Amino acid sequence: MPKEGPTRPIAPTGSRPRSDDVELAPFAKPPPRLHQRRSSKCFVYALALIVLLCAAFLGFALTVLRVKTPQLRLRRLDVKNLDYSSASSSAYLSAALVGEAVLKNPNFGKFEFSNGTAVSVIYGGGVLGGGKIEEGGRAGARERERVTMKMEVRSSELAADDVDRSRNLTIDVGSGTVRLTSYAKMRGRVTVLGWIKRWRTAEMNCTMSLELPGRIVRDLRCN
Ligand SMILES: *[C@@H]1O[C@H](CO)[C@@H](O)[C@H](O)[C@H]1NC(C)=O
Ligand SMILES: *[C@@H]1O[C@H](CO)[C@@H](O)[C@H](O)[C@H]1NC(C)=O
Ligand SMILES: *[C@@H]1O[C@H](CO)[C@@H](O)[C@H](O)[C@H]1NC(C)=O
Repeated sequence: MPKEGPTRPIAPTGSRPRSDDVELAPFAKPPPRLHQRRSSKCFVYALALIVLLCAAFLGFALTVLRVKTPQLRLRRLDVKNLDYSSASSSAYLSAALVGEAVLKNPNFGKFEFSNGTAVSVIYGGGVLGGGKIEEGGRAGARERERVTMKMEVRSSELAADDVDRSRNLTIDVGSGTVRLTSYAKMRGRVTVLGWIKRWRTAEMNCTMSLELPGRIVRDLRCN
């Protein structure tokens, strides 16, 4: 006859009568062996670690290694020289503008650009002058770099047969406000981690109003 003893704590208890031949109830199955449990846990941890490392590398690749295009925007533009007349049938306009543009480098690596980036001055879709960013240089990783931009606006740049635009310019100079667009493409090289090198072109497209009597540039907007 088996003895009921304190060594069987998980035997079913209750008000039911108990037989001496106790069957093994389902919940009383022996637990899985310890080393089995441990190895399956190890496997789960290893898998989780691999997934985590993959996610970390993907994040790294998407943020640090992806090369983006820097942004170039005109901040300020001053009128240095200005000469205009709308007395005759076709207006005369000559202006020298000097301004400061900001190059914003979003990359985790430097952006190097060479000197002499060309700038065009557009009036009603036609060229009305030009200029350049004389200096070359670099913008460090995730830094801003200021560059000086010089532009000339000249009515003589309009082609002689550009009658429509010439007439519009005469009206605008007469009214004292000339709407201009300044456009530039700055080509440079991004270097990430010292070995990933990519060429990128920062585009500048800014509109403004040249106020002739006040000799100022107003409503400067870049996109
Ligand atoms: C760039 O700089 C070099 C050396 O200072 C000069 O010789 C060259 O004319 C410049 N280029 C432009 C486009 O300004
Ligand atoms: C001249 O101005 C008129 C009215 O603003 C405009 O419709 C036309 O496209 C302009 N022409 C040119 C060549 O810019
Ligand atoms: C500059 O921006 C204006 C306004 O968004 C746009 O109409 C024009 O096409 C742009 N010019 C260039 C050369 O991208």
